[in-house]
Amino acid sequence: MTYRTENIQLDLFPEEEVTGQDYTATFADNMTLPVHKWYRYTAGFSAVWVNELIKKEKLNGRNKIIDPFAGSGTVLLECEFENVDGIGIEAHPYIYRIAKAKLNWNYPADKFKNRALLILAKAKTITINKTDFPKLISSCYPIEIAQKLESLKQAWINEEQEDDIRDFNWFIITSILRISSPVGTAQWQYIQPNKTKSKVVDPFVAFEQKVNDMYTDMKRLQNRFPKSTKSVVFNEDARNIQSIPDKWGDLVITSPPYANNYDYADATRLEMIFWGDISGWGDLQDNVRKHLVRACTQHVSKLNGEINDILSNKRLDPIKTELFEVFETLKAERLKHGGKKNYHLMIAAYFNDLANVFYSLRKVTNDNCLMCFVIGDSAPYGIYVPVDKWLGELAVSAGFKSYSFEKLRDRNIKWKNRKHTVPLKEGRLWING
Ligand SMILES: C[S@@+](CC[C@H](N)C(=O)[O-])C[C@H]1O[C@@H](n2cnc3c(N)ncnc32)[C@H](O)[C@@H]1O
Repeated sequence: MTYRTENIQLDLFPEEEVTGQDYTATFADNMTLPVHKWYRYTAGFSAVWVNELIKKEKLNGRNKIIDPFAGSGTVLLECEFENVDGIGIEAHPYIYRIAKAKLNWNYPADKFKNRALLILAKAKTITINKTDFPKLISSCYPIEIAQKLESLKQAWINEEQEDDIRDFNWFIITSILRISSPVGTAQWQYIQPNKTKSKVVDPFVAFEQKVNDMYTDMKRLQNRFPKSTKSVVFNEDARNIQSIPDKWGDLVITSPPYANNYDYADATRLEMIFWGDISGWGDLQDNVRKHLVRACTQHVSKLNGEINDILSNKRLDPIKTELFEVFETLKAERLKHGGKKNYHLMIAAYFNDLANVFYSLRKVTNDNCLMCFVIGDSAPYGIYVPVDKWLGELAVSAGFKSYSFEKLRDRNIKWKNRKHTVPLKEGRLWING
C-alpha cells in the first residue's frame, strides 16, 4: 500500500455538493485496498489516513486503539496491519456483522474458498418457484434474479456450516445484493426503483467473483502479515461501553454519525428485508435505530417527555445556553416549513448522546490518551450548529483535558431538496486525555 500524508479528504457526505479543494482520498480509495474493499461503506473514512495516524502515534507509545463508531472496521483493520491492539464498538447489527466478517481475513483461505463455493453449488441445485417476494425485493429485482438470490439464501439457511463460514457466506450474499439489482440501488442510501443501472451482475456470478476477490486478498495479506494482532468488534452502544477494560485505550480514532439527518438504519433496509429481519421501514426503529446515536429526525419522532430530561441533563451544562437558543430557534423555524421536521429535537438528542459517549470513553481511556473525532458541523433549516465547539466542550466537561479543531475542508451542504447558504466545514476534533 502507498500512503499519502497530505490532502487527505474524507467523504461522509456523498450526496452533498462538495467545494473543490482538498479532495483526494475518499472511501473510494479504500475500494482499491485489500479487505477494506470487500464492502463499500460510503460512511467510512480513509484507511490511508488512519494508517498514517496509527504509525505516528505508535512512535509516541500509543498502541491500544479504540473506535467507538467502528462502522465497517476501517480503523480495526489498520490496527491489525500495524500490529497494534484495536477494539471497536458498533451498534448497528448489520454493520457490526460486516465488520466482523472483514476482520476474519486471516481465516484459512483455502478452506474459506472451498466452503463458500459449496454454498454456491448447493444454491444452484435449489429451484425456487415462489413469486410473492416482499414489495421492496420485487421492485428491485426481476423475478428470476429474486429467485436466484432466494436460492442462495435457502442454501445458507439449510446448510450446516461452522460459525466463521456462516458469517462469511452471510457477508458474501449481503454484499452482492446491490450489484445484482438493475435498479438504482445507490450504496448510500436510498433505493431508486425507477432508475436503472448500466452494470448488473448475475447473483451466482457475483457470488463467485466475490469469493475469488476475498480469497486473493486473504492469501496476499496472510503472506504479508503472518503474525498480525487481532482486533475485536463488539455489537454494543458507544453511549454505554461495557466490553472495554477501564483505562485501556490510549488512542481513539473515530467518526460518529453527524447531526445531518442521515438515517443509518434505512441504509440497510434492502438487506434486512431480504434476510427477513424486518418486514418494512416501520420495523427499523425497533430493530436498528433505537440502538444508535440520534442523528436523524426519524429517530426523534417519539421523543415525547424525554426532551425535558435531555434539556435538564447536567452533562450538557457547558453548552446549555447556546443549545437552548438553537433549540428554540429551530422549533420556531420548523413551523415555517412544509415538512415540519423536528430538527430541534434531533439536535438536543444528538448532543445528549454524544455527551454520554464522552463519559463512556473517559472511563475506558487513560490519562495520556489522544482522541481524534472526524466531524462535520450542520445547519438544519439554515440554522448553524457549531458542532466542533460543542463537542469539544462536552469532552472537556466529561474529564478530558483540552481540544482543538483542524479544518479539512469547507462544505456546501445540500439538505434534501433544499439549499441554504450557511458555510459548513468538516475536519478533525483533537481531544487530549
Ligand atoms: C460515520 S460511521 C463510521 C464509519 C467508519 N469510520 C468506517 O470507516 O467504516 C458511524 C457509525 O456509527 C455507528 N453508530 C451509530 N450510533 C452508534 C452507537 N450508539 N454506538 C456505536 N455505534 C454507533 C453507525 O452504525 C455507523 O456505522
